[in-house]
Amino acid sequence: MKLCVALDLPTEKENISLAKTLKGCDIWLKVGLRSFIRDGKNIVEELKAISADFKIFLDLKLYDIPNTMADAAESIASLGVEMFNVHASSGNEAMKMVMDRVRPLKNRPLVLSVTALTSFDEHNFKEVYGENIKKKTLQFAQNTHACGLDGVVCSVYESLMIKKHTSEDFLTLTPGIRPFGEKSDDQKRVADIRAAHENRCDFIVVGRPIYQASKPLDVVKRIIETLPRG
Ligand code: C5P
Repeated sequence: MKLCVALDLPTEKENISLAKTLKGCDIWLKVGLRSFIRDGKNIVEELKAISADFKIFLDLKLYDIPNTMADAAESIASLGVEMFNVHASSGNEAMKMVMDRVRPLKNRPLVLSVTALTSFDEHNFKEVYGENIKKKTLQFAQNTHACGLDGVVCSVYESLMIKKHTSEDFLTLTPGIRPFGEKSDDQKRVADIRAAHENRCDFIVVGRPIYQASKPLDVVKRIIETLPRG
């Protein structure tokens, strides 16, 4: 299981300073929409310049027509990031086209899909997708697997079910982690490291418990020591 630290601080300077503090740690860094729109692709270069060992997850959640998504995926790959994501609801044609475009690339990034955004409650989800969250999440995960992507973003509590219905090596990346049972903030369903391990999550995403801590490096070191190997 790998730790992915969400760089969700309000300014580029603060994100860079956090990354500098974590230099030398075997971690992934999650760059989201706000940071990418505000700071541009330079943010990827700046993070890599701090440590070439940092692996970058560009969390842009692509959703567009297939050709536009494939073009965007190719541009993302050229940035040298190790992982990015698309919405599973953009459809199988789009996901296949993205994979056809990135598969031949040398050192291609991992590609995940977003199943159901956790901000949806059942009512609002059904308004958009006409189905309950669990059923649709599983269908999206199976579509994603069939289209050749590497895995999905999902909640800890869906990880096992998804692996069971796709494959053991189909990756799950799970936000909503409170490593040692810290306060849940606005997350509805949180899980600690033990639960993530029991549900065979491959990546845990942790933001506030790290960057709001007085000593982020200590928290990261403690998480890494607690993570099961692999
Ligand atoms: O601070 P916290 O650990 O709650 O941050 C979790 C990160 O994961 C944030 O960047 C949030 O946007 C992201 N995320 C999430 N739930 C999802 C997808 C992404 O919390 N379903």
